[in-house]
Amino acid sequence: MDIHKKIKKWEKNDGPKLMRELGIKTDSIIIDMGCGFGHYSIAIQNILGKNGKVIAIDKDQRILSMFKDRNELSDNIEYFKGKLEDIENSIYEDADFILLYDILHGASPDRFQLFEKLSKIIKPNYIISILPFHLSNFRDREGKKKKYSYNKIINEMNEMGFTLDNKISKGIHFEKYHSPHIMSKGTLNFEDLEVGDILNFILSGN
Ligand SMILES: C[S@@+](CC[C@H](N)C(=O)[O-])C[C@H]1O[C@@H](n2cnc3c(N)ncnc32)[C@H](O)[C@@H]1O
Repeated sequence: MDIHKKIKKWEKNDGPKLMRELGIKTDSIIIDMGCGFGHYSIAIQNILGKNGKVIAIDKDQRILSMFKDRNELSDNIEYFKGKLEDIENSIYEDADFILLYDILHGASPDRFQLFEKLSKIIKPNYIISILPFHLSNFRDREGKKKKYSYNKIINEMNEMGFTLDNKISKGIHFEKYHSPHIMSKGTLNFEDLEVGDILNFILSGN
């Protein structure tokens, strides 16, 4: 089976199964922050009932439009073009779950500001789900480039008032699939995609 078919199959079967294991329910409201081409949003859409919703947010209109165009079943997805830093508090407050997958590295966004805000406004049992990649390209609080590890991320989250609730080592890094250079060679298999740990955090004391 080629990689395109395997990705579709993941979105239909293994992806939804993973999202359930992470704690998403049929009526959950989930923010997919930096949704990109929407592989995770689609996997979630496949388990939601009529009261559940994904709010798929990305700062890049071109990527968001490509995601929208390829997704036939968009009843449970609201698309939103915007930057993490500019999203109104009410969007975070109304949700139960936020996915931050392959977005926390690099100079932007400022995750410290985001987590400080979330710690003040989210409901009890809210899940902050992180799938970090590019660990050598993280920034510290001063904005300096630093090599991170999963433990360093967990410690930092603890300091900001969050506790690790669940860890599942099945997060897929879809980057290579969206690299025209890699795809032009025609040799990429689904099994070649990097797999990383998904870290679910809740507010400490919950
Ligand atoms: C590497 S992709 C990951 C896509 C998706 N989360 C996944 O794991 O397949 C990162 C996405 O985050 C978006 N992004 C980066 N910084 C952002 C920000 N500050 N606010 C909103 N979206 C952002 C980028 O436009 C890009 O589509």
